[in-house]
Amino acid sequence: MAKVTVVGAGNVGATVADVLAYREVANEVVLLDIKEGVAEGKALDIFQKSPVTMYDTRTVGATNDYSKTANSDVVVITSGLPRKPGMTRDDLIGVNSGIVKSVVEQVVKYSPKCVIIIVSNPLDVMTYQAHLTSKFPRNRVIGMAGVLDTARYKAFIAEALKVSVKDVQAQLLGGHGDTMVPLPRYTNVGGIPVTELLSKKKLDAIVERTKNGGGELVKLMGTSAWYAPGASAAAMVEAIVKDQKRVFPCCVKLEGEYGIDDCYLGVPVVLGKKGVEKVLELKLTKAENDLLQTSRKHVLEVMSVLQK
Ligand code: NAI
Ligand code: 2OP
Repeated sequence: MAKVTVVGAGNVGATVADVLAYREVANEVVLLDIKEGVAEGKALDIFQKSPVTMYDTRTVGATNDYSKTANSDVVVITSGLPRKPGMTRDDLIGVNSGIVKSVVEQVVKYSPKCVIIIVSNPLDVMTYQAHLTSKFPRNRVIGMAGVLDTARYKAFIAEALKVSVKDVQAQLLGGHGDTMVPLPRYTNVGGIPVTELLSKKKLDAIVERTKNGGGELVKLMGTSAWYAPGASAAAMVEAIVKDQKRVFPCCVKLEGEYGIDDCYLGVPVVLGKKGVEKVLELKLTKAENDLLQTSRKHVLEVMSVLQK
């Protein structure tokens, strides 16, 4: 059985730990934060839920004590500021890059063989930051965005068609931001292409709502979402720990795939025990490829802020 650490015991981190425990993905989940007592309290609360909802996963809290995270198989990093209304994810780079760097330094010291999953925003560039700091190969530094973005996209499609969310399959490319590229051509409902079930006008509206899905929630709540993001990161952990070979859109370092070799970007991958086991390359139309290149340019602009 596995050991998983979640750094950052805020809204997203606590949800990741809760979902991992409830689904018994690991036998030990360590929740770590810098705020004195918060991770210990939330880990204890999740432990005390186990006799009610019946799971054997033990959750343990730590205030900045990385020795408790030693030899984790997977480490999920959610530490950092969330955005407030009026902010973009990119506005967080100054503070969050320092946080991600210092956290990754500790993580690799205590768990040199782990797979790192980054959640902190701006996602694609924070994943790049984790790669620079950890010096891990690309299969062991992965960003969570596509699982969440496709979840939003699938939920809106199921709602529009009045069908079960379980029957919607979809893919998505690009960065975690307004330039993400949902792919109607690779979306189906019970095997039927979605383009045969929804008009272009309705699909375009769903694609737009998906692109602004994070912002819609920030406007409603004054901070960013956590239930779907937490469950999405937990699904990635589960695929790795259980060697499930799931096909998920994830943020990875591209090394020539899609003609790109200079940044981290979301693409479909196979997730298993080794982390990213394969990057899947789709044959894109010119229009889809143009959108992917626009997304790449945007991520490169934010990367250049980090490099400065
Ligand atoms: P939050 O404010 O509820 O929690 C963040 C936690 O990180 C706080 O408890 C804080 O004390 C902790 N923290 C700060 N510095 C730390 C350090 N050096 N070491 C350990 N812990 C530290 O924020 P929330 O809502 O949980 O969001 C966390 C991050 O995840 C944000 O950057 C947010 O933008 C991002 N996010 C990314 C998503 C994605 O799809 N990739 C989805 C949702 C959120
Ligand atoms: C989200 O998409 C803010 O990245 C976060 O909800």
